[in-house]
Amino acid sequence: MLVFSTSDKGGTGRSVTSCNLAYRLCVSGRNVAYVDFDFGSPTAGALFEISAVERGTAHQDGLHSYLLGETGVATRIDVRTASDRPALRRLGPRAGKLVLYPGDEGGAEFLTAENAVVTRCAELLLALEQEFKVVLVDLSAGRSVALELVLKATAMPQLRSFTARWLIFHRWTRQHILAASGLVHGPHGLTQAGKECGHDPLELLESVRYVRTAVPNPTPAAPGGVGRPAQAAWLMEQNAALKRLASANQLGASSLLGETPMEPVLQWREQVIMDMDVDAKIANPATTAAYTELARRLLDAATWERF
Ligand SMILES: Nc1ncnc2c1ncn2[C@@H]1O[C@H](COP(=O)(O)OP(=O)(O)OP(=O)(O)O)[C@@H](O)[C@H]1O
Ligand SMILES: [Mg+2]
Repeated sequence: MLVFSTSDKGGTGRSVTSCNLAYRLCVSGRNVAYVDFDFGSPTAGALFEISAVERGTAHQDGLHSYLLGETGVATRIDVRTASDRPALRRLGPRAGKLVLYPGDEGGAEFLTAENAVVTRCAELLLALEQEFKVVLVDLSAGRSVALELVLKATAMPQLRSFTARWLIFHRWTRQHILAASGLVHGPHGLTQAGKECGHDPLELLESVRYVRTAVPNPTPAAPGGVGRPAQAAWLMEQNAALKRLASANQLGASSLLGETPMEPVLQWREQVIMDMDVDAKIANPATTAAYTELARRLLDAATWERF
């Protein structure tokens, strides 16, 4: 399964959530590839705590170099052996593979999705889809060349028959809801660009689900919730208004993959949240529960039934 993570705005939680999703899938025994197609700012190395590729690979063998034809093979890094975080190196035999394909350090956004680049992209995705249960591709934000590249690649005959899922990440605010909707339905958005690349727009839309990230808890009594009744009432009212706005913009419950709660650890540090962080009472249990549920829903066929 190919899974493309994108968002209209930057800083939506796309990479952090995708890394945590990849981790949860791996822990549940699935083989996962994490492909860093956020060409302008490759961050996955830092998230998996692999210091050698914190900002991408420095050896001109990353995804930029591969796509440009400067190296025949894109370098791959086994997160389970390369991570500086001991707990990530001790996942046990029941966990699946977790392999990172980093970008090149200093590699920039692509300016055009040229045919040769699209072909190499298709070849890479084809090979990964055969090896891994889930291939998670973190794309640059917005109407990027990265987006165009994978739309063109997945429209090619060799990839057309594969299952592709699109996850659109957004914060739980008015601007983010409108932006996410615009990215999918608006001018030059996913649907329109997909159609121009040869996709069936309806089919494409059916493969789109939204992920709301870092959603504050408006309930006063809950851990992490707010304390003052007037504030709580206001927040609940806003929450209801945001739900209405989301529904009116085709981001309602039926198109939602799930949401992640505001997590203090992630406000301070981008990382994988492990169960040990919850056991140590550092991270909130609702956060790991949310990532586990996102992973479950992603693989559940019922999530992707026509709506
Ligand atoms: N559930 C959460 N609670 C609190 N903070 C979060 C949560 N999820 C993500 N964040 C934080 O939000 C910030 C942005 O997240 P991230 O880097 O994943 O976004 P992005 O969409 O990939 O950004 P970019 O466009 O720069 O690639 C990070 O500091 C991250 O730790
Ligand atoms: Mg990112």
